[in-house]
Amino acid sequence: MTTNASKVLLNKITAAKKAIIEPEKLQVEGRLTRMVGLALEAEGCEVPVGGRCEIITADGSGHVAEVVGFSGDKIFLMPNGEIKGLGPGARVRPMSHFDGIQVSEQLLSRVLDGNGDPLDGGEKITSGQFMPLNGEPINPLNRHPIEQPLDVGVRAINALLTVGRGQRMGLFAGSGVGKSVLLGMMTRFTEADVIVVGLIGERGREVKEFIEHNLGVEGLKKAVVIAVPADQPPLMRLHGAKVATSIAEHFRDEGKQVLLLMDSLTRFCQAQRELALAIGEPPATKGYPPSVFAKLPKLVERAGNAEQGAGSITAFYTVLTEGDDQQDPIADAARAILDGHIVLSRQLADAGQYPAIDIESSVSRAQQQIISEEQLELVNQFRAMYSIYQQNRDLISVGAYERGTEPLLDEAIEMQPALRRFLQQGMNEKVDINDSVDELLQLMQQHRASKQELAIDNGTAEIISDNQHIGHNSGVIN
Ligand SMILES: Nc1ncnc2c1ncn2[C@@H]1O[C@H](COP(=O)(O)OP(=O)(O)O)[C@@H](O)[C@H]1O
Ligand SMILES: [Mg+2]
Repeated sequence: MTTNASKVLLNKITAAKKAIIEPEKLQVEGRLTRMVGLALEAEGCEVPVGGRCEIITADGSGHVAEVVGFSGDKIFLMPNGEIKGLGPGARVRPMSHFDGIQVSEQLLSRVLDGNGDPLDGGEKITSGQFMPLNGEPINPLNRHPIEQPLDVGVRAINALLTVGRGQRMGLFAGSGVGKSVLLGMMTRFTEADVIVVGLIGERGREVKEFIEHNLGVEGLKKAVVIAVPADQPPLMRLHGAKVATSIAEHFRDEGKQVLLLMDSLTRFCQAQRELALAIGEPPATKGYPPSVFAKLPKLVERAGNAEQGAGSITAFYTVLTEGDDQQDPIADAARAILDGHIVLSRQLADAGQYPAIDIESSVSRAQQQIISEEQLELVNQFRAMYSIYQQNRDLISVGAYERGTEPLLDEAIEMQPALRRFLQQGMNEKVDINDSVDELLQLMQQHRASKQELAIDNGTAEIISDNQHIGHNSGVIN
């Protein structure tokens, strides 16, 4: 026998052996037995949770659905897209698993849907590293602490609510108060290697608006946008948020500084509520089933710093406080797991003060670790003065407060216009972190000067001694 013929024979024997040891699995098809709302029930096929099936209708068209639960022999499915023409007994054919997407540099400046498929008419990305949809959690002991301030280009945040690299912040507000505009400002002004934007469950019109106006051509160059508007099925909205996080994780693992913006976290939770209720999970807090409160930290914990030397994901999640209710269960749960929250106030927005940041209710939990003591003192002074005015606002506006009764309040009244001006910023105006802190220092020096005058007027020497120069160490802030 020639060597060639023996090689062919050997290959045939190897293939036959393999077929005996690893026989190809027979795909067992099931049948659709029930459909209530968006939830589908099928019997006869064994597919694990997370697996996908193709449902074939009477006219032969196929719809993809994902297994989201089971009960006895029944599996519960949720469609991936719009479903038309389903009837009882429709064939349910198991498909390959969808549990991640391929991520590479090619994703930059692209707009994708919840499956990671292009929305911008471009080609599908079929190369790059495979990233699972539910990324691996980071060992909390290996996480690098938040140490470095991040310049977000917004004065009020840079100076008073300083955010660090790897911090996860919430942006809390009712609708139409300026969340998207503020997110857009931060997208354009923040120094980051890659920006991942997840537009989850908001209006379809907003997607184009955000890309064209808020991100702009320059911003889009280093950004990846995942857009899943409100009319998409709940499963897609959940996937969208996870896909955005997986992409951010990929770039972080490459050592990049990533900015992840998710608008909105509330819509992600609402999608999970829709899905869970549809398959029969009982509602608990204000209609939200317990799985919502389990999925929320799972998503948010994937952002943040990785190990020392690796990259970071600084994340901003918007949280809708419906009817401006800060006690909403999602707002409550999000506040507890995030590293700080910026609250936008409708009252300020109505008065035309943008960004409508309510300094009294907002906090950055990492701020103390990343700013100098001098800056912290300035921040506390600003807060004290802003707050005393707000507490006495009603008295002042009805004229019930008599000047001279409370020196700090007199001063706060005097300084109020300057404090407000400090918080205001146009949507196309960038203020870097050093300028923000310098302006805060100047503002507070003005305050000290007026304090000194007051002391001289009253003949009290001890207040003057309070007026020490507060050094501003910009080196620490850099
Ligand atoms: N910094 C700003 N300067 C001027 N107007 C603003 C600013 N931020 C928000 N607005 C106004 O508020 C409206 C709603 O803002 P948007 O960000 O879309 O709200 P949300 O995302 O909270 O629903 C905008 O269309 C704009 O008119
Ligand atoms: Mg919005």
